[in-house]
Amino acid sequence: MTTHRPTIRDPHATKEAEDAAPRSSAVPFAELLAARLSRRDTLRGGLGMAATTLFAGAGLSACSDSGGGSSAPSLNFSNVPLNSLDAVSVPEGYVAEALIPWGTPITGTMPGYKGDGTGTAAEQAEQIGQNHDGMTFFPLPAGSVNSDRGLLVVNHEYSNPTLFAGDGRQEDDNGPSDADEVRKDINAHGVTVVEIMRASDGSWSVVNGGYNRRITASTLMRLEGPVTGTPWVQTAFDPAGQFARGTVNNCGRGFTPWGTYLATEENIQGYLITDEDPVPEEKARYGINANGFGYKWSNVAGDASEINGEFARWNTTPTGASAVEDYRNEANTFGWLVEIDPYQPESIPVKRTAMGRFRHEGAEPGRVVPGQQIAFYMGDDARFDYFYKFVTDARWDPENPTPNMLDEGTLYVAHFDEDGTGEWRALDISNPTLAARFSSQAELLTYTRIAADLLGATPMDRPEWSTTDPNTGEIYLTLTNNSRRETPSADAGENAANPRAPNSHGHIIRLAESDEDPAATTFGWDIFVFGSNASAADDFNISGLTEDNEFGSPDGLWFDKRGVLWIQTDNGAPLDSGSNDQMLAVIPSRLSGDRTINATNQAQLKRFFVGPAGCEVTGVEMTPDYRTMFVNIQHPGNGDSTVSNFPDGGGARPRSSTVVVRRADGGEIAL
Ligand code: FEO
Ligand code: CA
Ligand code: CA
Repeated sequence: MTTHRPTIRDPHATKEAEDAAPRSSAVPFAELLAARLSRRDTLRGGLGMAATTLFAGAGLSACSDSGGGSSAPSLNFSNVPLNSLDAVSVPEGYVAEALIPWGTPITGTMPGYKGDGTGTAAEQAEQIGQNHDGMTFFPLPAGSVNSDRGLLVVNHEYSNPTLFAGDGRQEDDNGPSDADEVRKDINAHGVTVVEIMRASDGSWSVVNGGYNRRITASTLMRLEGPVTGTPWVQTAFDPAGQFARGTVNNCGRGFTPWGTYLATEENIQGYLITDEDPVPEEKARYGINANGFGYKWSNVAGDASEINGEFARWNTTPTGASAVEDYRNEANTFGWLVEIDPYQPESIPVKRTAMGRFRHEGAEPGRVVPGQQIAFYMGDDARFDYFYKFVTDARWDPENPTPNMLDEGTLYVAHFDEDGTGEWRALDISNPTLAARFSSQAELLTYTRIAADLLGATPMDRPEWSTTDPNTGEIYLTLTNNSRRETPSADAGENAANPRAPNSHGHIIRLAESDEDPAATTFGWDIFVFGSNASAADDFNISGLTEDNEFGSPDGLWFDKRGVLWIQTDNGAPLDSGSNDQMLAVIPSRLSGDRTINATNQAQLKRFFVGPAGCEVTGVEMTPDYRTMFVNIQHPGNGDSTVSNFPDGGGARPRSSTVVVRRADGGEIAL
């Protein structure tokens, strides 16, 4: 079987031109505070780690090592050495098993996965999608802390269409030419809700139950919040601007304390294209161009089977007399957070426009305290883009939650000052600078990035996931890397929060809201750890990483409720060892007193998990009893069966999968 169409790979490996030069008016400064870069102030890893022993297992388990820290609470597992195997590696005494690989049937007629790629679009709509990413476990029944049964909600970030190709299916460099092929691609995207249960032996399986659901790039969605019903989201599909279709490029995840899931819409410019020349600012700032990532779903527009412009809408070039006659605004219906209620399988997913439109990566709440407002922290993953938070107007009342709490609140963008403080700048039309550019809050929110440019937000090294320390309330944010951060440079130079140029291996920053108030407009911050090869020079390996914890390109990030921080990688710049992507764990020290700079005493950072060849490790979750961990393996082999056959082995096409990790003795994970 030959295919001429280039495999669409991890969008982060391919996105280039859409990341424009920095737009912020924030003044980068060349002079870095020594404190920001001192070893004293950043994480020191690998203390007390024994030398790694030879990794012996090629299957879904185990290696051995001795190690561990001495402080309490303390991580208690053997460090996993880096490797390049086509297997998942976990610590000694743990087991790992694949669950819900791409193509697993979950609804309807439960069509089985076809390993030769000949499954149809209709079958894909009843099966697990591709390229698993962020996910959340929702116990069943709702509101319980049951660890034996629940709903796993999983993002499917993108697709590898070449994995679909079977007999008779051909594509060419110009993109797809077959409507069913496009529909299959559309159905491989989106989100999965799947019920799973634990057997007495600790293993997990899919329940063919009524909660199971596939949300795809064509599922009906409602728009809510300030942008709803405004001219910016009018389309031929819904001239009233209240409904939209589908969600794409769902990457990091979010969730709410009221038991719903927030699917993020990240690289929308991979799908929505335009032939306009020049591309209007409002589209160009979002990276929209004539080619996207090559999906080109509008290629099959006009097919006899097309329903309601389902293909035409992906090309946003104006063709009619006004916005209600074409799809010029279609891109404005993407780039939002999508709230999904997994416990209500008939519910229509809702795009929450008050939370802004950008390349949403994650949306985890800060610490949720009854009587306080709730802040959601959100990265915009592009080089030199920004970190945001949304603060609800309503205060949290767990007994009587305010309905539609995400529709009313204030969106802020972060500005980091060099002295270890920062401010949240409100993206509000009451600001004269913004009122001079936008006619309404709705227009401002539709073009959030342009508004943030005008406020002098700090250009970051690709904000990915953020997460909240349950002990301190501090917010941690991964900045995965930035190949275009340059020294010296007038417009792409380092700043205090992004002090390494070029930043090939990324870093993790953390913030403490003033007075621990989610609605604070000022914060303190420091840098928690810098990614690096262990062998790099001291001025690059600033955190002193060793073979036991070297990493690059941090992306997925999650604090479990015990205070263990899990760090996952998506190696934009592979480690010198050429190793696979991985997941590490650390228990950060509590900060105290002056929170502006205090990252000392990080005694532990160690490797818990190494993924199979060519994958990204992204998405992590646990059951409430901490005895099952779910980790997602995205794009094993980068979609190439000569690199990976995970999880089926034996030459099979690689399939993105959730991996269940548990202790063989049934004990609590990691501690
Ligand atoms: Fe899809 Fe920003 O990682
Ligand atoms: Ca990511
Ligand atoms: Ca990524």
